[in-house]
Formats: sequence, structure tokens, C-alpha cells
Amino acid sequence: QELQLSLEQIEKGGYEHFMLKEIHEQPEAIRDTYRGRLLANEGIIRMAGIDDNIEKFTQADKITIVACGTSWHAGLVAEYIFEDLARIPVEVEYASEFRYRNPVITNKDVVIAISQSGETADTLAAIKLAKQNGAFVFGVCNVVGSSIARETHAGAYTHAGPEIGVASTKAFTTQITVLTLIALKLAKVKGNMSNSDFHHHLQELELIPEKIEKALKADAHIQIVAKQYKDAKNSLYLGRGYNFPVALEGALKLKEISYIHAEGYPAAEMKHGPIALIDEQMPVYVIAVNNPHYGKVVSNIEEIKSRSGKIIGIVTEGDEEVKELADHVIEVPNTLESLTPLLTTIPLQLLSYHIAVMLDRNVDQPRNLAKSVTVE
Ligand code: G6P
Repeated sequence: QELQLSLEQIEKGGYEHFMLKEIHEQPEAIRDTYRGRLLANEGIIRMAGIDDNIEKFTQADKITIVACGTSWHAGLVAEYIFEDLARIPVEVEYASEFRYRNPVITNKDVVIAISQSGETADTLAAIKLAKQNGAFVFGVCNVVGSSIARETHAGAYTHAGPEIGVASTKAFTTQITVLTLIALKLAKVKGNMSNSDFHHHLQELELIPEKIEKALKADAHIQIVAKQYKDAKNSLYLGRGYNFPVALEGALKLKEISYIHAEGYPAAEMKHGPIALIDEQMPVYVIAVNNPHYGKVVSNIEEIKSRSGKIIGIVTEGDEEVKELADHVIEVPNTLESLTPLLTTIPLQLLSYHIAVMLDRNVDQPRNLAKSVTVE
């Protein structure tokens, strides 16, 4: 029997699409991200780009994060982590806005540019502007030797491996991993975290890959959910705190590859607009994991239910309350609040993927989109 495999089939490693392969690669990609950097047993985080420039960070007036698309969402997650753990003020900006709005940046600022490709034109231009203003510019890139990696003063690679699918998946979670390592390191150096709290965070971070493996096991159930909502014209994604940016990213993934209109919102903002859209046709994906806002998100779910919206809850394993109210729940393992985005993102990626496949879309190369946008 003749075995004929195209180069592309080999590259896809048995998966139907690159996107699905890359979703499943996340446990290993994150291990690659923290390998040699996260020494959980010793209680050490080692990152040359940070260690060599530690004072730039600890003495910064503020950190401004510039990025586009999914990388911008990783920046939003980082804002929560940096402010919460390292107590450094953070602003997150679309690079395309930053570059044209005469931002207040001085030599007391740190600017972090996040980019999978390292070639995004707007992000590159934002870096040049920040450098002209005297800022210390740090890059978080995936592609080694890329333009952004070369333009920045220092940086940390995500080491996610090549990402082929236009819709970004493993780049996002590895960016969050790198930014979490940086935030934890700064929190420790600045004395904002006790030794035991720091240790606990390192241990929990080390467990994330196996928890993602567990989250990926919900795939068959997610396909059932996808089938039910694939014909919706609109979808709403809600999350709060650390999971507000995950709601934005969930909506972006659905838009990009299924062409269904989707919006992400902070759960509590629903009452200022999106609630008007809710009827029995509207699937609402609500991230309601264990955290201090859980009770408030449950109240939001009740409001959706009383307007006949369809509720799909992304919940922590063993959840009881949301299960009672929602049409479907998808479970993710428990972890520290600051690490929940690394888990809640997974089912939303799979959901978009399956909906797009069911709608017969070109998952890896959606219409009108490019993997790397090197023009303005
Ligand atoms: C394009 C891609 C997105 C990506 C964005 C930023 O729009 O389709 O997936 O998030 O660019 O790209 P970067 O390489 O800078 O992260």
C-alpha cells in the first residue's frame, strides 16, 4: 500500500487544521515558555532580559503595553497581573492609536511591545516612537530574530514554536505565561509578595500545562455546544476581572474564523447596552470561574436568563450554582485567580474552531485576514 502524505499533512501532525494542532500544542508550548525560567522548587524565576534590566522595571513610573489583535488582549491580561501582583501602573494601548496620539512617554517609562510575528507595522512604529521619547522598550515576541525583537532594547521570547493558523492560539497563552513570569519576578523583587505566596504562584504556574490537558478533554462536549449555537447571528462573551480580556479574545476568535458577529464585554457593563440585544436567539458565553466576582457574575447570568438568553457558562470544576442556571456548562480545572485566563481561553478556542468547521469556513486562512500585518 502506497503511503502518500503531502508536506502540509505531515506538518499538521495528524490534525485536520493547523489551528487545532496549535490549540492542542498549548501544554507543551507553555512548558517550553517556562523551561529554564521557572524553577518552582528553588523558588526562582530566571529571565536574562529582566534580570539585566531589573531597575528599569522597578523604578519605572509606569509600564505601557503596545500591541494589536490577540497580542493586545494578552496585554490586557498582563495589566491585571502587573497591577495586582507587582503594583506597577500599567496602560495598554492599540499600537495603531499609540503611534499617532502624541503619548506622554519619558525616559522613566517602560514600554512592552507584544507581537507573535514580531513584524506588525503598527507595533514596530509604536516602538520607534517610544524609543525616540527615551523609554526602555521590552519585546515579547514569538518569532526569533524578527524586526520587533531586533528593535527593542531587551526582551523575552515566548518559544511557542511556529504558529501557522491565522487565528492566534498558542501565541496568546504563551505571551500570558511570559508576562506572568515577569510580573511575579517584579512582585518578588519589589517585596510585594511573601515567600510562601510567591512559591505558591510558581507551583501553580508549573501545573498549568497539565490543567490545560484536562481542559482539552472537554472537546467532545464542546462540539455538542458548538452544534447548538453555530447558526446564531450574534454572540455575546462576558467575563470580569482577569477574565474580561478572555471574553474579548473569545469573541475575536469566533469573529475571525466563523464570521459570526460577536462581542466581548465586561460582565457588569452588560446593563449599559448589550442587555438590549438579549433574546432567545442570543448565545451568551459567560466566564464564571471561582474568584471574588463569582457571585456578581451569577447575578448577571440570572439577568440573562430572565430575558431568555441562552447561557453557556465556563466554570470551575465542580461548580453547582451556574450549572443550575445555564443551558450548558464547560468546566476548567481550579487554579489561582491570576492564572485562570490560561485555562478559560481553551474552551473558547475549541468552540470557535468547531463552529467554523461546522460552517465549512477556511479555518486556517479566514477571508480578509493575514497572519502578519506588515503594512499600515
Ligand atoms: C493579525 C493576526 C492576529 C494577530 C495580530 C497581531 O491581525 O491575524 O492573529 O493577533 O495580527 O499580530 P502580532 O504578530 O503582532 O502578534
